[in-house]
Amino acid sequence: SISSAFDFGRTLFPLSETAGGYAPVGAPSLHSLDRHGGVGDGSLERNKTLTYLNGLSLIVGLIIGSGIFSSPGQVNINTGSPGASLIIWAVAGLLAWTGAASYAELGGAIPLNGGAQVYLSKIFGEMMGFLFTWCAVLVLKPGSAAIIAIIFGEYMVRAVVGADVEPVNTWINKGVAVSGLVAVTLLNCVSTKLATRVGDVFMLFKFVALIGVTVIGIVVAITGLSSTGAANQEWKTQGWFEGTSTDISSWAVALYAGLWAFDGWDNTNYVTGEFKNPNRDLPRVIHTAMPLVILCYVLANVSYFLVLPHSTIEATNTVAVQFGYQVFGPVGALVLALVVSASCFGALNATTFTSGRLVYVAGKEGYLPALFGNLGLFGSGSAPASGGRLRRRSGITKLVSRLFGDSAGFGYTPTNAILFNSLLTLGYVILGDFSTLVTFYGVAGYTFYFLTVLGLIVLRIREPHLERPYRTWISTPIIFCCVSLFLLSRAVIAEPLQTLIVVGFIIAGIPVYFWRIYQRDGKDIASQKRQLRDAALQPYLVDDLDQRL
Ligand code: ARG
Repeated sequence: SISSAFDFGRTLFPLSETAGGYAPVGAPSLHSLDRHGGVGDGSLERNKTLTYLNGLSLIVGLIIGSGIFSSPGQVNINTGSPGASLIIWAVAGLLAWTGAASYAELGGAIPLNGGAQVYLSKIFGEMMGFLFTWCAVLVLKPGSAAIIAIIFGEYMVRAVVGADVEPVNTWINKGVAVSGLVAVTLLNCVSTKLATRVGDVFMLFKFVALIGVTVIGIVVAITGLSSTGAANQEWKTQGWFEGTSTDISSWAVALYAGLWAFDGWDNTNYVTGEFKNPNRDLPRVIHTAMPLVILCYVLANVSYFLVLPHSTIEATNTVAVQFGYQVFGPVGALVLALVVSASCFGALNATTFTSGRLVYVAGKEGYLPALFGNLGLFGSGSAPASGGRLRRRSGITKLVSRLFGDSAGFGYTPTNAILFNSLLTLGYVILGDFSTLVTFYGVAGYTFYFLTVLGLIVLRIREPHLERPYRTWISTPIIFCCVSLFLLSRAVIAEPLQTLIVVGFIIAGIPVYFWRIYQRDGKDIASQKRQLRDAALQPYLVDDLDQRL
């Protein structure tokens, strides 16, 4: 029912109705709507608690994941030299930064929940928003989960067999990846509460791992100390740019690998409305988080290069294990393998959690069969009307309840949606490997990042007077668009098959859109839409009355 959809939600999608053209013609500005399009009980609006530091830890925690422990090999193979790799890492970071800055402007100009889905609907029409959801549900979410699961598998296997056993059968890695996926799926189906708590705990591990790598590498390089006595000397004798690739397309593939590690920068946009002072703090969060992450990543890579010969880095997806082995021997390898797999497990858990909600909301919205908008296995239960107050919330729990409403964090699980997402993820784990999936994810993801940031430019031209609490320097979105266009066009040459599959997916979404919309509008959703529009109009009607009286 409509009320439970809104109660659940203050959800992502119902808002797109407002964004997609139900706002009254000649309405003042989007700012006079509340952040949720004038619907819902407004409790999140009153609950503005996020501070600058909360925002910072949320986004940094989201971005740092599997990538910095697994992409370096991929980047190095494709660029050919340490110097060029470091440039790619910096460029990937800067690109993510320009993207995040552009999203910050969009978040202020269109102050509705839902991120890209809403911006695309508002700027290019509902179909574009639908296609984003379509791809997020079928490609982006399960694809990214698969990448993380695979890295989890590889690190777990390394923990058992050690750093120096070569090669390990891929199917063993995949088997472990699948068992991690199954564990996380069960955890999420059984208890939302447990799942979020687990996420909070595992968040710690990646900070330990990343800071550890950076500090140790630099100490080893400066003092020349390591228990194995075998700190890499290559960097002293070889040029940093020796062997640099001249093939532009393989630079593009390297960039995709780097971008994976920086991915997640768009996530603050989902919580804009909950900042105490969004206009000041959202840009501030982005402009501290991004340089901070870039710095960490570049230093970690310098650290890898100082300790490991680059042939070793190129040959592995588990660079952190090799690193631990080189510095501390087998014990070091074991510790790093465990810490990184814990970090990946946490990330897999978090992404399973949010993906389940995304699929659920898409089911509720009529974008997917109603089955997926149910709670419990195949059942027809609905979200409780109100979620109740939470006690203490931290980390992922906090983020999730901010994204999806308090009720999302507790009490019930959208089992069908979670299973659907996990089955797709399973397919990707079986079919793909780290490097193909990372490129695949990059092509699909950057298609929509590109369109969304292009939308910012379109919006500046089309609605120059729209209130924009934060205006990014216009060259920011232009740079982002140019570089991502270059990336996407290169993908066609570097990875034609994958690009074709992504394009096929997106195009296949168009008939599905018309089919779903037809289904939806044929049923009672048409009346829900009317209700929604009326709800959005009410504030103006009341204002109008007030004035006339
Ligand atoms: N940057 C993360 C990593 O290195 C991946 C983020 C996945 N994307 C997301 N929107 N959560 O693993």
